[in-house]
Amino acid sequence: MRVLGIESSCDETGIAVLDTETGHLTQRLYSQIERHREYGGVVPELASRDHVAKAAPMIMQLIDERGGVEAIDGVVYTRGPGLMGALMVGASLARGMGWALNKPVLGIHHMEGHLLAPMLSTERPEFPFVALLVSGGHTLLVDVEAVGRYQILGESLDDAVGEAFDKTAKLLGLPYPGGPQLAALAAQSGPTRLVFPRPMIDRPGLDFSFSGLKTFALNTIHKLSPLTEQSRAEIALAFELAVVDTLKIKCKRALESTGRKTLVVAGGVGANQRLREVLKQMTLDLKAEVYFPAMEYCTDNGAMIAYAGGLRMAAGQQDNADITDVLPRWSLEDLPPLST
Ligand code: KG4
Ligand code: ZN
Repeated sequence: MRVLGIESSCDETGIAVLDTETGHLTQRLYSQIERHREYGGVVPELASRDHVAKAAPMIMQLIDERGGVEAIDGVVYTRGPGLMGALMVGASLARGMGWALNKPVLGIHHMEGHLLAPMLSTERPEFPFVALLVSGGHTLLVDVEAVGRYQILGESLDDAVGEAFDKTAKLLGLPYPGGPQLAALAAQSGPTRLVFPRPMIDRPGLDFSFSGLKTFALNTIHKLSPLTEQSRAEIALAFELAVVDTLKIKCKRALESTGRKTLVVAGGVGANQRLREVLKQMTLDLKAEVYFPAMEYCTDNGAMIAYAGGLRMAAGQQDNADITDVLPRWSLEDLPPLST
C-alpha cells in the first residue's frame, strides 16, 4: 500500500510517500530552524503557524509527483509526543484528508518513528534489540522485542541529551540548535585536561540525568573567563566526552542486562560522530552490533513516520473516527503490538 506520512511534532515539517511493498520513498523536509534561531529555542506558537503555512503545499506537491491522491491508500501522522499546537496541524490535515478521500488514518508515536528509522537503510537491524533514543526532547533506553513491544529500561530524569547539548552550546555563545555546532567546536580542540562528571554512572539502573552537566559547564566557564578560543573548544570537548562516555556506559549495561546483541541508536544526537565511533568500539568489544539511521533520518523527518505508519497500516491498524486528540505526552509502552 502507498501511505502519506506527516511529521509536525516540533520544528520540522516532514512529508513522505512510501510504498510499503516496493519500499519506494519520496520525501520533503522543511526546517524552521532559521525562524526560531533569534529566540534561542523553539517558540511553539511560531512552530504551529509555520507548519500551517508549509505542510499543505508540501503535501500537494509530493502527492502530485507520486500519481495524485487516487494513488494514496492511507494517511499516517505524528500524534505525539511533541508540541500540542504543532501536532494538531499534522493531525488535522491527516484527518481531513482521510475523511475527504475516504481512506484510513493512523496516528503514530514520534519516538517509534525514530526507533524504526534504521529500517529505512539497506543494512537493517533484526529484532530483538536495545534502542538508545537521543533527541532534543527524549533520552530513552528501550528493549525492543518487536514492533510495538517496547519496555523502557531507562530515561532521563531531567534534561534530554539534545537539550543538554543545546543549553551548553548556548552558554558557549553558539546559535540554536547548538548540538552540531558544539560538536564542531569540540573537534577543533586538542587534548584537554578538563574533566566533566559522568552523571549517575555509580548508581545501579539505566536512568540518566544531564542537567548537572550544563551547570558544571557554566561553573567552568566562570572559572576560566574571559574565555579564549582554545578554552571554549576544550569546554565543548570535555562536555561532549562526558555525555558520550555516559551514554556508552549505560548502553553497555543495557546490552549486558538484557542479553541482547544488537544496539540501535536513533534521534538527532545519533548524528554525533564521536558517539557513533565510541558506540561502534564498545559493541565491537562486546561482540555485538550497532546500527544507526542514515544521517538524513536521524533528525525529524516524514519518512520515519511513513515507515512506522506503513507497517502498522499494512497490519490493519487505523484510528477510530472518534479520535480527535493529539498526545503531547505519550509512552512508547502504551503502543499496541503490530499483531496480537
Ligand atoms: O530528533 P531531533 O531532530 O528532534 C527532536 O525530536 O527533538 O533532535 C534534535 C536534537 C537537537 O537537540 C540537536 O542539537 C541535536 O539533536 N543534534 C546533535 C547533533 N545533531 C543534532 N547533538 C550533538 N551532536 C550532533 N552532531
Ligand atoms: Zn525527533
